[in-house]
Amino acid sequence: MSKRPIRKAIFPVAGLGTRFLPASKAIPKEMLPILDRPLIQTVVDEAREAGIEHFVFVTGRNKSVIEDHFDRQYELESILRKRGQSASLELLEKDLPAPGQTSFTRQQEPLGLGHAIWCARHLVANEPFAVLLPDMIMMAKPGCLKQLIDVYHESEGGNVLAVEEVAWDRVDRYGVVVPDVWQDNHFSISGMVEKPKRDVAPSNLIISGRYILQPEVFTELSQQSSGAGGEIQITDAMIHLMGKQPFRGVKYVGTTYDCGDKIGLLSASVVHALQHETFGLEFRNALSNIVKKAGGKLTWGGE
Ligand code: G1P
Repeated sequence: MSKRPIRKAIFPVAGLGTRFLPASKAIPKEMLPILDRPLIQTVVDEAREAGIEHFVFVTGRNKSVIEDHFDRQYELESILRKRGQSASLELLEKDLPAPGQTSFTRQQEPLGLGHAIWCARHLVANEPFAVLLPDMIMMAKPGCLKQLIDVYHESEGGNVLAVEEVAWDRVDRYGVVVPDVWQDNHFSISGMVEKPKRDVAPSNLIISGRYILQPEVFTELSQQSSGAGGEIQITDAMIHLMGKQPFRGVKYVGTTYDCGDKIGLLSASVVHALQHETFGLEFRNALSNIVKKAGGKLTWGGE
């Protein structure tokens, strides 16, 4: 099976983000920050660390700020230069993709994740690629995609998915895989299902938002009708490919925060701030004071 290098990554960022209204009314939810880095920047960092050279964003209406974020901001740069704020300038420079490294296309209708990925088919063309869902923030060293790419090269290649165990009462929010033969922290996948009910879920190992896929998935997607939730699902396209290509799950080392919901985003922000090399100590003190004021218990007001 193909072990061609993984050079391109797709970032599906067309979702409406209704769970974050009103914050996400005028700005995309992917621009919500963990401390000072937007979610989308965090996943682009992860892709870069894994050696990705081309970043393909599948956007929608109201998402043009994402394009601006990955462009130069000349006015701001010139003000920072005049003021001698070289540290801020360096920070912007470090994050800026090289010219031609980004592409943007639009998902014109909200027809599901599979459809969003299919919208990028001409930009990816005929080579294996990665998909990173910016809702899922992985704190991992090395990064989650890097861990997947390592397994891709060590094993038979093909399709490789990040998986993790979740509590059984959460399986119906995700795609779920059936593990077959384990080898260290990865295994061949013998089945998968999208958003199963808890009592029929084949395992509690969920597909956690990082994929390495072969380009043949685009053909499956183009023939696909809607599945779970009335949407075109990437999981269904993968199921169709399963007899023809290898699929492997990697139980990667790290912690995932589902920043598609408020508690996930808050938790990721707190953990990130606690570990931060500049602000960590100050934040730990601030948080200790909050807990002390609450009498050592994390309860509040009339609770
Ligand atoms: C999508 C995928 C699902 C996966 C999840 C991870 O679901 O369809 O298989 O487990 O992302 O976040 P969505 O979040 O679009 O409902």
